Formats: sequence, C-alpha cells, structure tokens
Amino acid sequence: MSMNIVIIGAQWGDEGKGKVVDMLAQDFDVVVRSQGGNNAGHTVAVDGKTYVFSLIPSGIAHPGKRCFIGNGVVLDPVAFCLELDRLSGQGLRITPHNLAISRKAHMIMPYHKLLDQAREKSRGTSKIGTTGRGIGPCYEDKAARIGIRLADMENESLLYSKIEMALKEKNALLAGLYGQQCLRVEDIMEEIRPATARMIPFLADIQDEMEELWKKGGKILFEGAQGTHLDIDHGTYPFVTSSNTISGGAATGSGIAPWKLTRIIGITKAYTTRVGSGPFPTELNDAAGDRLREQGGEFGTITGRPRRCGWLDAVVLRESVRLNGLTEIAMTKLDVLSGMDSVNICTAYVYKGQHILYPPQEENGLAEATPVYDELPGWKDNIGSADSMEKLPSSARAYIRKIEDICGIPAKIISVGPDRKQTIIKS
Ligand code: GDP
Ligand code: IMO
Ligand code: MG
Repeated sequence: MSMNIVIIGAQWGDEGKGKVVDMLAQDFDVVVRSQGGNNAGHTVAVDGKTYVFSLIPSGIAHPGKRCFIGNGVVLDPVAFCLELDRLSGQGLRITPHNLAISRKAHMIMPYHKLLDQAREKSRGTSKIGTTGRGIGPCYEDKAARIGIRLADMENESLLYSKIEMALKEKNALLAGLYGQQCLRVEDIMEEIRPATARMIPFLADIQDEMEELWKKGGKILFEGAQGTHLDIDHGTYPFVTSSNTISGGAATGSGIAPWKLTRIIGITKAYTTRVGSGPFPTELNDAAGDRLREQGGEFGTITGRPRRCGWLDAVVLRESVRLNGLTEIAMTKLDVLSGMDSVNICTAYVYKGQHILYPPQEENGLAEATPVYDELPGWKDNIGSADSMEKLPSSARAYIRKIEDICGIPAKIISVGPDRKQTIIKS
C-alpha cells in the first residue's frame, strides 16, 4: 500500500527537519519540497560530513534517490545553481535523473530580492527580519497573477515580455518609493540566462510521476520548510513567511490529493528557537538562553544569525498538533538539555487574566501571553550515544512522556545528536 509522510516543523523553523528527512529517506521512493524557497536551510550530517540544503530536497544526500521540487516552491535560478555547484563540490551527483522541478513553480527575480531588502530597511525597528531572499515579494506576484513561472524559461520572448510588464510596477516602487535605480529587462535577462539554461533540463511533470507512484503503491516523503508558527495564515502574523507551512501546504504545493497523505510527523526541538522578529513567550534573555545557543549551535544555517532561544512551549506544540493533524512527534536536540539541574515546559499561558491552552488569535496576542511553567528534574549524563529509550536517563524519559501527554500523540523519533546515526526510533 502507498505510504506518504509529511515532515512538518512544529515550531518556528530549524527544528531539524533535514536530519529527520535524511534519516527516513532510504525507505521512500521520492522526497518532495512543496513550499518555501532558499529561505530554508536544512542540515544533514552523515559520518562526519555536513550538507546544507536550501532549495534542493535533503533526500538528494542518498545516492540515486529521486527528489522533486513542487509548484508551491519559489525558486531563485541563480541561488539554485550556486547550491547545485556547492553540493556537487561535496561529491553529491545532482542531475535530471535524481531531481525534477515543476514547471508551475514561481521564479524569484532580482527585483523581488531588492524589494524584500528595501522594505525591511524602511520598516526600521518593526522589520520582520526576513532572510532578504525575495520570498515574500515573489509569492505576492504569484497571488497578483504577474508572477513568472519556471515554464516561462522555455520561451524566451514570453519571459522577456512578462519581465517587461512586471518591471513597470517594480521600477515605480524601487525608484519612486525606495530611491533605487530602475532595472532594465535586458540586464535581468543577461543575469539569469546562464542559470535558466542549466535549469531547463530539470523541468518535469512531477504530478504525473506522483500519480504513477501512487498507483504502484510507492512511498513519497514531503519535506516541509519553515515551521507551523511561520505559516502565512496561522503563524504569528505579520512575523511569518509568505507560504503555507502547515501540512495542507504539502498537498497544494505539489498537486497530491490531501487524502493521500497518510502520516504527518511534527518535528520539535526539545526547547524552542526563533530567528527574526516576532513574539516568543518562552524566550530566555539570560544565561540559560545563552547556554542553549552555545550548546545547541543555534546560529542560522543560511544567514548565520544568532537564533533566539527559550524553553519548550507546549502551547505552540498543541496548536501545531491540531493545525497539521500531527500523528506523531519527532523530538530533536534532547542532548542539548543535558547538564541542566531542571528543565521547564510551558504548559499554558496567562492572557488577559485567563489561563489559556492555545495561542490567542489577536494579532500579536502572543506578545502579551505570560507562560505558565512546569519544572521537571534535569539530567547530567551525556546522551549522544543512546540508541534506545532504556539508555536515556529516567528524567529525560519523563520529559518526553510529559510532552507526549500534553500533545496527545506519541514521540516516535528522538534525536540525540546531529548525525544520522544519533537517533532513537521507538518501536
Ligand atoms: P531544519 O531547518 O529544520 O532542517 O534545521 P536546521 O538544519 O536549520 O537546524 C538544525 C540544526 O541542529 C542543524 O545544525 C543540525 O545538524 C542540528 N541537529 C539536528 N538534530 C540534532 C540533535 O538531535 N542534536 C544536536 N546537538 N544537533 C542536532
Ligand atoms: P527552515 O526550513 C527559521 C523566518 C525568517 C523571518 C521570517 C520571514 O530552515 O526551518 P522570509 O525570508 O521567509 O520572508 O522571512 O521567517 N524564516 C525562517 N526561520 N527557519 C527557516 O527555514 C526560515 N525561513 C524563514 O527568519 O523571521
Ligand atoms: Mg533551517
């Protein structure tokens, strides 16, 4: 029987999705990215080698594994080629044989990046803290129906006229509002042409391939990017990304029917991190937060920005369970908590004088929520080589059990280090 699993970040991104995808990929026929773009940075560590995937699905670390980039992804052709070269330099072979890209995916253009950065600058202290990769402006154009799809690369005169049309508006914004130079269509064509020429052979009908796989009882693994609370609709708006990061995005962003998604695994760190602006009730602006950042190596995979760190927020997780229909949890970075006398879990918030179990719906309501903590005993042992639940200290097991109880679903995968092998799979 066909089995399709979706990997979803249950927090604000960087939960360790890359590691979990890599670990599971060997049992799947195809690994698919269905939203986001090169704002993502997914790390995979195998036998002392580390790969960072931004646009290319993490499954590519398995030689010969077929990977798809779906219609819901926004793709910067220049960034794609740089990633291709970087990964090829590390010995990964990436060809149309193991990577196929949907013609319906939208292209990030130079003006999207300029607008992203100019807007952030003009927002001053109220900036979102975007990655500056043009993600938001590209999705805006998709919704405004003036976007450029990858299929347009196959018809140069059509591509030229679409860019020309888009530039009328973009130049008015860039020059009129942000005091920048106007862009010329010829310069843009010249800038992207070498990259688009390299990309064209990767274009394919991935929907068709997925349907064929489904009929044969094949297995597809969907690699979510970002995290549930960065979702454009359900995240901490406006401090979010511009795509649907929740499980529904796997269907709309690839063309698979939602009922064919059989399991949905929510990835959560054993604590919480966030990059960029926005409310974060359990954030630790003290030595404990600094310790998590240092021990956990919490610096952006792509941008190098220090990540904000705090205790595990189970209110955020509860919301992720219901928004995504999570069937199970994979918990990463449990090893980072080792050595603490006690560990806290936020089980509820006090908001406007009330005890609440789910995030408030008002814009920025989370900024006014005060966490209610349960304090649990910590553990001292180094758990990096634990390969079964029995080898974990009893207080670490109790910590996991508490989270399972709050979420109402089992934690089936526990990660105790970055390497593929440092993983406990519960039977
Ligand atoms: P993603 O965006 O969700 O794929 O996560 P990132 O790759 O951005 O960030 C996760 C970081 O944690 C990476 O550096 C991983 O190598 C690392 N990592 C993943 N799982 C574990 C773990 O269990 N323990 C430790 N110490 N590091 C981990
Ligand atoms: P992965 O897939 C963490 C954050 C940015 C910013 C906000 C909007 O590695 O988990 P954008 O450039 O998307 O418009 O930025 O979203 N953000 C991420 N944070 N992990 C990510 O991806 C992220 N992708 C975007 O920091 O706050
Ligand atoms: Mg990341």
